[in-house]
Amino acid sequence: MKFFAIASGLIAAVSAIDIRLRSGGGCTGTYVACLGINPNTCCSNGGSAFIAIGAVAIPSNWRIELRTYQNGGCNTLRGIQGSGGATNMCISENDGIARLTGGGWNFASKKRNAAAEACESTGCTATAKPDILVLEDESTTFAIAEMEEPLLNVLLDYAVNGTQAADIPQVYEPYKIET
Ligand SMILES: *[C@@H]1O[C@H](CO)[C@@H](O)[C@H](O)[C@H]1NC(C)=O
Repeated sequence: MKFFAIASGLIAAVSAIDIRLRSGGGCTGTYVACLGINPNTCCSNGGSAFIAIGAVAIPSNWRIELRTYQNGGCNTLRGIQGSGGATNMCISENDGIARLTGGGWNFASKKRNAAAEACESTGCTATAKPDILVLEDESTTFAIAEMEEPLLNVLLDYAVNGTQAADIPQVYEPYKIET
């Protein structure tokens, strides 16, 4: 039993990085996040565009690269940044234009497999949809994985324009996660 607990703990640790797509420069503002996303997988909410993309919960002994994509989804690489041991990273558009439509990470290594190559050139083939949306207060959280797209798009509008938790319409109440 103990062995299995340890083994599954290790498996969990391998996919520990969260990717956050953020509405504010310098990784501020509201965000949607893919939790515990694997390498060479890109987090995207389709056509929704953001100003900054962050990676959090990076184990400090890992060397990764954070990637950003534009033009919808994860097809066109926009930027790459090495972690250099940081546990928290942010790539932000200097001109404040929301053009980032996807973000992902990979291990920084000269040896590249096909999935890593694709994420660098023709576009990531593995994509993930965000699990949660967090308001600007950094605490009010909604489960969005199962939310219908039109409903999600309106929630995102509210979140991006800085609507406070108390002013979010009742229809979103069932999606709220107590944190
Ligand atoms: C924020 O977005 C919602 C949804 O689109 C809209 O109803 C509301 O008027 C907006 N509020 C502000 C202050 O822009």
